[in-house]
Amino acid sequence: MKIFAHRGASGNHPENTLKAIQAALEIGVDGIEVDVQSCLDDYVIIHDSWLDRTTNGVGKVHHTNLASIKTLDAGLGQSVPTLQELLQLNNNQTLLNLELKHTFELNKLVKILDLNIANKIISPDNLLISSFDHHQLKWMKQQLPWLKIGALTSSIPLHYAAFAQELNAFSVHVDKDFVNADFVKDAHARGLEIYAYTVDKYEDVKKLHQLDIDGIFSNFPSNTKSFVQFT
Ligand code: G3P
Ligand code: CA
Repeated sequence: MKIFAHRGASGNHPENTLKAIQAALEIGVDGIEVDVQSCLDDYVIIHDSWLDRTTNGVGKVHHTNLASIKTLDAGLGQSVPTLQELLQLNNNQTLLNLELKHTFELNKLVKILDLNIANKIISPDNLLISSFDHHQLKWMKQQLPWLKIGALTSSIPLHYAAFAQELNAFSVHVDKDFVNADFVKDAHARGLEIYAYTVDKYEDVKKLHQLDIDGIFSNFPSNTKSFVQFT
């Protein structure tokens, strides 16, 4: 079972910052999940559509330019990273799961990803784009057929594995509380990987490991890695 650092190693470092990403790389995770949003003139790594919760700024990310965002403190003196800074820090060391939140002008995003692939900053194997917006995922996959996409859902609707297979998804990303043996069987029969969020407690790690899912997102990837050894 793969361990993904959720928003980087966000239990011990400010979420979605380069510090949290670096810590996850040092732990030796199987992948890192971060949230991608559009600001006025770039893509930045931040969870909320507002700056208020995770920085000392206010206002909508989408209405703010990068120069202004870069003046803000995202916790312990960290700045809000750009997508490019994230890709460069990772330098193809591990799988990056970019979750698209309020992410616009996808043509621009496609160009950035393509360029980073061409420059070998990241390999297609190490890139996984996920979203609750399945229309966006479909469009991204049409533009970049090599792209791995992960279909996010909060609950697990009826026939969700069949839906994800039709979407040509690589993986389904589901709330840990909704995974059950029937869903695991169905998704695996359709060739889909199953990743659950957000898993920090030993009992949940054990349950999901026994269900034979393929990966979990954890805020405390170091602890969670050690839990897996005892399940
Ligand atoms: O990608 C899994 C998980 O991160 C989705 O929920 O709110 O933490 O972005 P959220
Ligand atoms: Ca996320």
